[in-house]
Amino acid sequence: MKSINKFTITLPSRSYNEAFARSVVSSFVLQLDPTLDELSDIKTAVSEAVTNCIVHAYKDYIGKIYISAEIFSDNSVQVKIRDTGCGIPNVAEAMEPLYTTGGEDRAGLGFAVMQSFMDNLKVKSTIGKGTTVTMRKKISLRAGKNATL
Ligand SMILES: Nc1ncnc2c1ncn2[C@@H]1O[C@H](COP(=O)(O)OP(=O)(O)O)[C@@H](O)[C@H]1O
Ligand SMILES: [Mg+2]
Repeated sequence: MKSINKFTITLPSRSYNEAFARSVVSSFVLQLDPTLDELSDIKTAVSEAVTNCIVHAYKDYIGKIYISAEIFSDNSVQVKIRDTGCGIPNVAEAMEPLYTTGGEDRAGLGFAVMQSFMDNLKVKSTIGKGTTVTMRKKISLRAGKNATL
């Protein structure tokens, strides 16, 4: 699959940056002419992944969040959200709906949301080294779309 366009940004894990990251990725994806539903799915998935970096990876301190989005020739977008925080001991368990180490405040549905709103979700994690979440979504080709690719 041919790569068409890409950006990478690095942000500190401040809570303001959850909304900022969501907006940046969604602005970038606009070039694929997504429906409002597709855009909202991507925004929600990005919010969940970035929130996890803020509240879990860097629980008691501010660390760096590396975000990239890449557009491919099949009208898909791949979003990567990486941290160098605490890591996840058991990824399969963490991805189970309702599993949380966040106590009362958290629903344990972040990964479930990412999985259902995107076409593909991969989570790689090493304890003490950090976590990379890679998500992909194909944007529908609509009649009357202005072909820019
Ligand atoms: N980036 C991350 N770094 C460390 N742990 C994480 C990260 N993302 C998720 N986790 C772990 O996976 C669990 C499940 O995440 P999630 O499904 O988003 O639910 P929630 O955030 O509500 O706990 C978290 O409670 C946490 O233990
Ligand atoms: Mg979460």
